Amino acid sequence: MKIHIITAFPGLMEGPFQESIIKRAQEKNLIEINIYNLRSFTKDKHNQIDDYPYGGGPGMVLKPEPIFDCIDHILEQIAPSDSKRLIFLTPQGKRYDQQHAKELSTEEHLIFLCGHYKGVDQRVRDYWKFDEISIGDYVLTGGELPALVIIDSVVRLIPGVISDMNSAATDSFYNNMLDCPYYTRPEVFRDLGVPSVLLSGNHAEIEKWRKQKALEITIERRQDLIKDDNIVTNKTNDE
Ligand code: ADE
Repeated sequence: MKIHIITAFPGLMEGPFQESIIKRAQEKNLIEINIYNLRSFTKDKHNQIDDYPYGGGPGMVLKPEPIFDCIDHILEQIAPSDSKRLIFLTPQGKRYDQQHAKELSTEEHLIFLCGHYKGVDQRVRDYWKFDEISIGDYVLTGGELPALVIIDSVVRLIPGVISDMNSAATDSFYNNMLDCPYYTRPEVFRDLGVPSVLLSGNHAEIEKWRKQKALEITIERRQDLIKDDNIVTNKTNDE
């Protein structure tokens, strides 16, 4: 997968890609990350990327020309037969979730446009077919952190990125369920023990316990995730 990020603040994006799983995914050539500085696509001597909104009001708006030129430049490098998605990060977008992450993880190219200030000239949004995505009901200073959140959640679903694919299969939200609790050594810490079933070596019982705990936590915290088929599936498996 090739990831293309259009931003006015490229420095914000650099650190997170140089650590841990995302770094290793690049080293293994499973992903390639290209960051495009919006200012490099300006043609005026002040490298102006934003301007006042027509009609007045507070805040600045990202100008259309550098964005169009940058997207054209990216698309020129992509074969027409390659699958791609353009993504615009905005609090007005559709709320992001694990299902959306799964869909994005199968694309060959993801192109992220990070908004800033009051947003971007509406003609950018009208012309290009973006997935407009929000990462939650709160407002950040720009689209860079949301883009990082999405990239992190997508990249870990690409086969080969996480060594034990099982660990993605047991994630929270995998089956519309939150994940169960985990314990590691020592067996007793500050008088706090570990549930005995986890020490029993009985894998069927352990699996049953984990499903039960996942169901309890999901019912307690996120009833909205529970679908009838989850409850049916769990009952069937536990019987
Ligand atoms: N830009 C600013 N806030 C945002 C949010 N919550 N989600 C996506 N992009 C944003």
